Amino acid sequence: MKFPVNIEKIDSPPTYQTGLGAAFLGDSLDLLNQLPDNSINLVLTSPPFALQREKEYGNKAQDEYVGWLSQFAEVVYRKLKNDGSFVLDLGGAYEKGKPVRSLYNFRVPIHFCDEIGFFLAEDFYWFNPSKLPSPIEWVNKRKIRAKDSVNTVWWFSKSEFPKSDVTRVLTEYSDRMKKLLEDPAKFYYPKKRPSGHDISKSFSKDNGGAIPSNLLQIPNSDSNGQYLRGCKALGLRAHPARFPSKLPEFFIRFLTEPGDLVVDIFAGSNTTGFVAEQECRHWLAFENELQYLAASSFRFMPEDSDENDLSLAYQKVMLGNSVEIIQDTRQLKLFEKGNKYQA
Ligand SMILES: C[S@@+](CC[C@H](N)C(=O)[O-])C[C@H]1O[C@@H](n2cnc3c(N)ncnc32)[C@H](O)[C@@H]1O
Repeated sequence: MKFPVNIEKIDSPPTYQTGLGAAFLGDSLDLLNQLPDNSINLVLTSPPFALQREKEYGNKAQDEYVGWLSQFAEVVYRKLKNDGSFVLDLGGAYEKGKPVRSLYNFRVPIHFCDEIGFFLAEDFYWFNPSKLPSPIEWVNKRKIRAKDSVNTVWWFSKSEFPKSDVTRVLTEYSDRMKKLLEDPAKFYYPKKRPSGHDISKSFSKDNGGAIPSNLLQIPNSDSNGQYLRGCKALGLRAHPARFPSKLPEFFIRFLTEPGDLVVDIFAGSNTTGFVAEQECRHWLAFENELQYLAASSFRFMPEDSDENDLSLAYQKVMLGNSVEIIQDTRQLKLFEKGNKYQA
């Protein structure tokens, strides 16, 4: 499959690349600016949130946050195709020292739509039942607030009709619906609901699954097999803010088609690129911390890679080699520029 943009025009080589994508080290504002306008189908990302408690990779203060994130959003807008989408996972936060929520994650969509020109195609809510209670002071100690376990996920679009097809992300029917489909006559007779909606016979048609809602229940308990295995083997701390692969999977399937280009501008451990590759989409990952990118290469190594293979990939990326990871069913091949290595 031909890569949809010419990545050789980017002024530094990728830290690593695979059959369908490439991961670049640098400030994503600069990297994004080097892509052609109207070239990306989907930008899907989870930026550093405006948290009071800083993560190891740094967070922006709440009062500067909208301005900071808008610089990226303005470039994303130009780089997206006309029917492209921008999906932004933003966790909520409390104001410093007070049991009062910050409004920063709500100010973002208002600013993006009023000032940049995006449409809010739909607001999604990611419910993570496995989230730990926080903030400790208000939830665990004083017990005056409930645990926060929902992130807002804003789906922005450049036009009112972005590419999307909900039939690609159907969910399993409920038990009741399954019974109805087995024997429509027994469970169902056409009638008007109290709301006045006419429940027609088409409700008993099997569409292969139910239309999903905008509440996505996804525990953040991915095993991340190869990634965590590699981190453990090399004594590395795994990225502290990974999202579960089901989250990008939902939006990649819903909003793109095979061969499309998906970009994560705050890639971290490159969950997005990994899912895009599995879904046969092209991908680009931008991240400004080299060690996160180096470890993210583990995701693309064949499952039977041993510690030496993983270590070698990590070292090569850390040393600034541009590594090509070619997955083939029999063996892993790692290439660096002009110097071929076979594990
Ligand atoms: C919330 S994490 C993303 C985690 C990712 N979704 C995953 O599953 O691993 C945000 C990432 O953005 C990176 N970052 C922050 N500012 C950046 C910038 N200007 N350019 C590129 N990356 C940046 C941070 O180093 C961090 O790894």
